[in-house]
Amino acid sequence: MSLIVALDPPEGVNGVKWCVNLVSKLGSVPRGFKVGLPLIVREGVSGLKDVVSVTSTKLVIADLKLADIGYVMSLTTKAVADAGVDSVIAHAFVGTEGALNELSRTCSELGIKLVLVTFMSHPGAGRAMKKVFNDLLSIAKEVSAWGVVLPATLPEVVRAGRNYLGSTAKIVAPGVGAQGAAPGTALCAGADYEIVGRSITRARNPLKTALEVVKKQVESVRRCRGL
Ligand code: XMP
Repeated sequence: MSLIVALDPPEGVNGVKWCVNLVSKLGSVPRGFKVGLPLIVREGVSGLKDVVSVTSTKLVIADLKLADIGYVMSLTTKAVADAGVDSVIAHAFVGTEGALNELSRTCSELGIKLVLVTFMSHPGAGRAMKKVFNDLLSIAKEVSAWGVVLPATLPEVVRAGRNYLGSTAKIVAPGVGAQGAAPGTALCAGADYEIVGRSITRARNPLKTALEVVKKQVESVRRCRGL
């Protein structure tokens, strides 16, 4: 149960209908869903609420990639909390004082899990993030983030993150499928969850593809743990 499906509706569709359709097709296969700006900007918090309402008790992460002063990040988080999401993604680079300390307090009050971006999965991510990676991880530790985002496309970065964090935070890893990483790559490097978007949501048969991804994750973890 380590699969999180990213629901990013493509252009020209009704975002709510598209997401609800996928959630119902995928049933209980994913451990959770990630919804982000492509849905929320187009369909608003009420649209987000409609999607969250069909996800039962799963992990539902609002991927807002917040990067602002604490007051504004808290206002935004309160708005999506009203829609029923249980986790929010913010950038670690904004730092603690006046920013993540406040957001972390707000999340605790709302019962929302705080997930911080400490590296990214796209090819250009390393240019700036490599230099500050350890600082970003220390910020995540300092604010007791529930989790951090680390790239499945760079398993050595996931490994380094796990070594640094120990068991203090979950690792959520995008980059599987469309961005090139194979299912299980990040799990074997120490991640708790792999986020998969397009390779499942754009598949002809999303349920079948999701089941294949889970099967590959299980096989890969068995292999790397020598089971
Ligand atoms: P695909 O379609 O590429 O979707 O499987 C990946 C999903 O994950 C998000 N994403 C990231 N989010 N840090 C993040 O916080 C990252 O490094 C990162 N890389 C991809 C992306 O927004 C999409 O929803």
